[in-house]
Amino acid sequence: MPRIAYVNGRYVKHSDASVHIEDRGYQFADGVYEVCEIRHGYIVDLTRHLNRLDRSLRELRIAWPMSRAALTQVIRETLRRNHVRNGLFYLQVTRGVARRDHVFPAEGTPPSLVITAKSTDPKIIAAKNTNGIKAITVTDNRWDRVDIKSVGLLPNAMARQQAKEAGAQEAIYIDGEGMVKEGAATNVWMVDSDGTLVTRPAEHGILRGITRTTLMDVAAKLGLKIAERNFSVSEMLAAREVFLTAATSICFPVVSVDGLPIANGHPGSVSQKVREAFFDVAEKIAI
Ligand code: PDD
Repeated sequence: MPRIAYVNGRYVKHSDASVHIEDRGYQFADGVYEVCEIRHGYIVDLTRHLNRLDRSLRELRIAWPMSRAALTQVIRETLRRNHVRNGLFYLQVTRGVARRDHVFPAEGTPPSLVITAKSTDPKIIAAKNTNGIKAITVTDNRWDRVDIKSVGLLPNAMARQQAKEAGAQEAIYIDGEGMVKEGAATNVWMVDSDGTLVTRPAEHGILRGITRTTLMDVAAKLGLKIAERNFSVSEMLAAREVFLTAATSICFPVVSVDGLPIANGHPGSVSQKVREAFFDVAEKIAI
């Protein structure tokens, strides 16, 4: 069965799908994206993902490519055509196609919209949850507006590659004061010595992850304490647990950072508890 992509109004074979060479996403990383989890045939937290898409578009003054209702239908149709029951969709909106010029194209230039969908193997995610993952720390070298989910991910890609070459799976950004920011494609959490779930405030300097927001609802439901505050690398290394959140991975336990074990070097119980309760709390919309 061939994979199908949605590209600017058409459903095309994934292998034939293409955008114009002067798409501003390609030339300037002038676009935004969302990745959303599909689980057991349900789209997880779609409302929050579309709300964040709206914010990203407004911050960059890119127009919506179509109405929200129409976009939802296209997302569903792309998922149906790809027979995704567990996996994800990727959605990208750019400022469209125009002769290369740094300033914005003429008013009315249509934004480009691409949606892809893929199935993932739940066994791979389960193995990461059982074994935990390793992380390294890196200095944050990104632009100041990482609160916008822009497709400009070169520093993130470099950091992930650095993690891979160090035998790890995620790179955690550290700010100039030695405080933990977020992963290359995840938010970072720790469980401190009195069992409080701690994560950095999302007002500035990190992406406000949708999984992060829903996990707060989960923690509240489970009666766990949460604190949004800055925490240092040494606090993280001394934590009871460290875990990462993102759509599609939900809640991965971190068992070592820079080669140093977190607690006893095994996944902890809090991350397991919140992961197990996650889908009961998250919004689920049938495909
Ligand atoms: N990444 N921080 C960064 C820098 C991210 O790229 C992501 C998501 C997150 C977590 O956000 P959410 O919970 O909304 O997925 C935090 C996606 C999955 C990606 O780039 O593939």
